Amino acid sequence: MLIAGNWKLFKTPSQAAGFCRELRQPLDDVSEIEIAVCPPYVSLTSAIEVLAGSKVAVYSQNVHWAENGAFTGEVSAAMLRELGVDGAIVGHSERRQYFGETDETTALRAKAALEAGLKVIACVGELEAERDSGETETVLERQMIPIIKEIGAHERLVIAYEPIWAIGTGKTATPAQAQETHAFIRGLLDVPILYGGSVKPDNAAELMGQPDVDGALVGGASLAAESFIGICEAARQTVA
Ligand code: PGA
Repeated sequence: MLIAGNWKLFKTPSQAAGFCRELRQPLDDVSEIEIAVCPPYVSLTSAIEVLAGSKVAVYSQNVHWAENGAFTGEVSAAMLRELGVDGAIVGHSERRQYFGETDETTALRAKAALEAGLKVIACVGELEAERDSGETETVLERQMIPIIKEIGAHERLVIAYEPIWAIGTGKTATPAQAQETHAFIRGLLDVPILYGGSVKPDNAAELMGQPDVDGALVGGASLAAESFIGICEAARQTVA
């Protein structure tokens, strides 16, 4: 069970340090689950420094597939490893929607990150219109195929199922919808599968209690210590 907080474009280096100080003590005796925070690139170092020796890992929100080269604005897996980063998110729907990320570039990023020794959370998920027209499984299969072809079931690879209509909307997939979709994804590739999309302390236990839900990728509710810790506690109780 992994609970990862995706901070998106929030928290400067000093804000990240302060927030991580708040997380340390309450999460220090949590051994039943894995926990990670995903700060913006510039705040990775301060999070890593404050969380050194704690139970909380630090992931980046993206990573490039090349080791180095003429790729302005990108960061490589080796660079992240040198900082002490444990893993990376790839293919988040906001990257796909606003920055031209594709199923293929997502798989390339995931592969390079795994080869460099990072853990990877690769995101997939359908639009509301796609769910409404019964295309959810087709879309997920299309998104998963390059990952399956390029990588397969790697021990450091995790998939995050994030229905786009549930991200930042307060609309969560029902536990039954999450379970059904996770079971479908697991049929394609047998790796841990996180649910993402408006996860909060009060819905986390029911979602995390589904047999094929192996954790959560949390956006908004990961920005405040109280709600992020609440979600970690809820997850912890489902594995206890
Ligand atoms: P949310 O975001 O929890 O704010 O819906 C989830 C995500 O984008 O990873």
